[in-house]
Amino acid sequence: MLAGKHILVIISGGIAAYKAIELIRLIQKAGGTAQAILTQSATHFISPLTVSAISGRPALTELFDLTRETEIGHIELSRSADLIVVAPATASLIARMANGLADDLASTCLLATDTDILVAPAMNVRMWDAAATRRNIALLEADGVKIVGPDAGEMACGEYGPGRLAEPETVLAAIEGYFSQSSALRPLAGKKIVVTSGPTREPIDPVRYISNASSGKQGVAIAEALAGEGADVVFVTGPAEAASPRGCTIVPVTTALEMEAAVQKALPAAGAVFCAAVADWRVTNPSGQKFKKDADATPPRIEFAPNPDILKTVAALPEGKRPRLVVGFAAETGDLRARARAKREKKGCDWLLANDVSPGSRVFGGEDTAILFFSDEGEEDWGALSKHQAAARLAKRMALTLKD
Ligand code: CTP
Repeated sequence: MLAGKHILVIISGGIAAYKAIELIRLIQKAGGTAQAILTQSATHFISPLTVSAISGRPALTELFDLTRETEIGHIELSRSADLIVVAPATASLIARMANGLADDLASTCLLATDTDILVAPAMNVRMWDAAATRRNIALLEADGVKIVGPDAGEMACGEYGPGRLAEPETVLAAIEGYFSQSSALRPLAGKKIVVTSGPTREPIDPVRYISNASSGKQGVAIAEALAGEGADVVFVTGPAEAASPRGCTIVPVTTALEMEAAVQKALPAAGAVFCAAVADWRVTNPSGQKFKKDADATPPRIEFAPNPDILKTVAALPEGKRPRLVVGFAAETGDLRARARAKREKKGCDWLLANDVSPGSRVFGGEDTAILFFSDEGEEDWGALSKHQAAARLAKRMALTLKD
């Protein structure tokens, strides 16, 4: 179940710390690998040497372990894991996590990571029931941290109630559950997808430019839908009115040349969606000074040069450099089918989504669209739908194609 998965196991100081050894054994039995970190207080309960021997890697305890800092560093340590499991998690470590403290190796790794975290609390029943712990657990849950346990039962201190560390088998089941759920819910996890969006702006002088009415709404919806499927989305956007998509890396650009450079820089990627309305032409002689409209002055002469076709360039990259799936858009004002088919050929993209932007269609700037989808398998009419629906449909389809 855990083949290829690397788990960072953080052990904090409590009587249940010895159970972490069994947990590491179970992770390995399930095909995963484990790297252990012990807090200082954990070392009073179990020896780092035992943990190292079981996990097959040196168990770490010190934040300022210089050799290791130069080799990998604590930030890399926590980010390279597929999941971080804190077992047992004491009331103290939970409080430090909830408040973002980073005062030892364990808490620093927990704060410095964007990897998901699973916490298995273990403490005295009164500490578990304490208002402060309740608050801290609620804060962690709100931050997206997953909690497993604690179990209720007799405690080492003689009291009875919830607070016992969940059994190692239960923690393992939660780890396996996390991975099966995350791969089902996030089929594009670990895959980079570049999305271009919005208009480009081609300067004429310091205050004037040539641009178009693209709102960027469709690009934002697609980026968010892809991020929802788990993709690492690099969102390269011209100056658009739509709010930035959540959960994406945003790369703001102005001109077509900047957009092309940003896209090339973001490659390699598993997929690329070209939603931007790139200006076909740029001004070759933009003025460094604002043009003045003096009555006797002759009107300025503006010269143009064609902009690079970013979609076409990326679609023509050699195998290995070319994203596996290249998706283009076509906005047409008549004879949609024939023009869209021709455009797919000309641009060399795998899929093309065509919409009619004739006056009255309200696609530009609006919430809705109507899509004809073209691929090697032919043509599909997606009909009239919202930009969000179109984005969700495209993202699901990309996930199906790119997931393995
Ligand atoms: N595109 C691009 N770079 C350009 C122009 C367009 O990446 N310089 C992409 C768009 O993001 C879109 C697709 O190409 O995915 C279609 O753009 P469109 O402007 O319709 O194509 P053109 O070849 O300019 O077609 P036409 O001249 O018929 O409008």
